[in-house]
Amino acid sequence: MSQTIFKLRQVGEPLLRQPARPLRRDEIQSPEIQRLIQAMRDTLRDAPGVGLAAPQVGFGLQLVIIEDLAEYQQGIPPDLLAERGRVPLPFHVIVNPKLSTVDPTQRLFFEGCLSVAGFTALVPRMAKVRVDGFDENAEPLLIEAEGWHARILQHEIDHLQGKLYLDTMVTRSLMTTANYTSFWKDKPVCEVCAALGIVRTL
Ligand code: CO
Repeated sequence: MSQTIFKLRQVGEPLLRQPARPLRRDEIQSPEIQRLIQAMRDTLRDAPGVGLAAPQVGFGLQLVIIEDLAEYQQGIPPDLLAERGRVPLPFHVIVNPKLSTVDPTQRLFFEGCLSVAGFTALVPRMAKVRVDGFDENAEPLLIEAEGWHARILQHEIDHLQGKLYLDTMVTRSLMTTANYTSFWKDKPVCEVCAALGIVRTL
């Protein structure tokens, strides 16, 4: 079967700043939406990335996909994976997600976005969240997540409201991914904050 790899829309495109519309349950099961999900999956793996929202590929629909493969985590020191609460996540689809807070404690880590190519920044996110929605078969879905999964969920669901991590990042921490790799990728967040003159209020 041929793959569809979408062009990833970049910050500045109007659709990335507009609220997405919910899908009807019968729409979710339509061939068009099933094809869209497959193509988003191919696009996410091609990028590669751990999450993608439909507006990022040109569709103003409340649809996100998440997948964090073990192979993406190779080469990241185990203590940093533990600090982030990052474990492999199987591919999953969430339609019409509604996010609620379980633990509002703020966690600060680097985060990037396929629609802000080449950059990364520290972004505060809630420690634990709950998400209600529907899966790709239009069945109701409930996810309770903490750590990295909670972060990805908040990031992707923000996309459906026209929000980007740039809106809530710690501005002094914005950097190119190349510089992140050169200087900071193996450093704990507290060390990064001290070196960049970031006063942590979290
Ligand atoms: Co993003």
